[in-house]
Amino acid sequence: PGKGAAANSPVEVTVGCNLELTGDVGSWGQDSRKGIELAAEEINADPKAGVKITLKFQDNNSDVAKSKDAIKKLILQDNAQVVIGCVGSNYTMAAMDVARDERVPMVTHASTNVTITKKGGEYVFRICFHDDFQGEVMAKFALAELKAKTAVLLVQKGNAYSEGLIASFKKAFTDGGGQVLAEEAYQRGDTDYQTMITKVNSANPDVIWLPGYFNEVALIIKQARAAGLQKPFLGGDGWDDPKLYELGGPSIKGNYLCNHFDSNDTTPKVKEFVEKYTKKYDVAPGAMAALGYDALYCVADAVRRAGKADPKAIRDALATLKNVETVCGTVTMGPDREVSKPAVVQRTGEKAHEFYKRQ
Ligand code: PHE
Repeated sequence: PGKGAAANSPVEVTVGCNLELTGDVGSWGQDSRKGIELAAEEINADPKAGVKITLKFQDNNSDVAKSKDAIKKLILQDNAQVVIGCVGSNYTMAAMDVARDERVPMVTHASTNVTITKKGGEYVFRICFHDDFQGEVMAKFALAELKAKTAVLLVQKGNAYSEGLIASFKKAFTDGGGQVLAEEAYQRGDTDYQTMITKVNSANPDVIWLPGYFNEVALIIKQARAAGLQKPFLGGDGWDDPKLYELGGPSIKGNYLCNHFDSNDTTPKVKEFVEKYTKKYDVAPGAMAALGYDALYCVADAVRRAGKADPKAIRDALATLKNVETVCGTVTMGPDREVSKPAVVQRTGEKAHEFYKRQ
């Protein structure tokens, strides 16, 4: 049982963060951490917030088995009453059974695979949009904006995120009158994509749907451009990392992705966040930092309303989040433990994404 908070004294809570702090998507965990730590500083300095947050971090090393260990450590050793994480859908899916069994609420700030909230059960929440939404956004964008009639789909086998986005894009694209010419698969960590690119070239689609993670995506686009393929690649939030440009070089320019956040947005809430973040870390925030920041604000709102650092009470308060203003949109928790947030389509520029349009 949590300590009851006396009137006006803040609720003290330990928030565990299960993140990819190292490994092939380690930059995502690091950026999430920066966003979460900035939010914690602000919340802890604000008497009106009504909570005092202690953060605990465990690194899942971008590894499915270690993600399970990480959440166990957070709950059983660090005594976290609520957990944020993970970034990648596969890692979240590996951790959520532990949240359910230990009855500690878990909030993913970034994992978009649709099955997560369904399979995770009552203790698993998501505070970002999911892949049925972003797949549809990009399929409609391809049809309406790029006037695409045909597409080739490239899936990263074994990555639930990539597989889910293949399905949702395919449905929306074909429902809208588009035709899928071919589907090809690659594996995590592959470095030579020549065989796949040759097949894409001979199918000659209007667009290539590539819902992968930045490491592989950068190499695929680079090798495709070197092989003479000119058509636009489209992707999802998994493209969002500066390494896309570091690994892919100038060939990255001129493609499109769906994202949660655009740092060029001039609404006051976003401007203030971008300024504070840039001042603290000397770099502009990407989607991951914004989502981490938002997640801690949602958790703090729930803990304050719960009135005590008790996992069940926090769970119930997360289920009733209402109109929490965050940098990626307004959060109201639905009965399916999902929220509805807008997406932004970005165009890849020379060295960073550029704003293209809101969806
Ligand atoms: N949505 C991705 C996944 O589920 C993770 C991600 C979120 C990556 C936001 C980048 C930005 O695997």
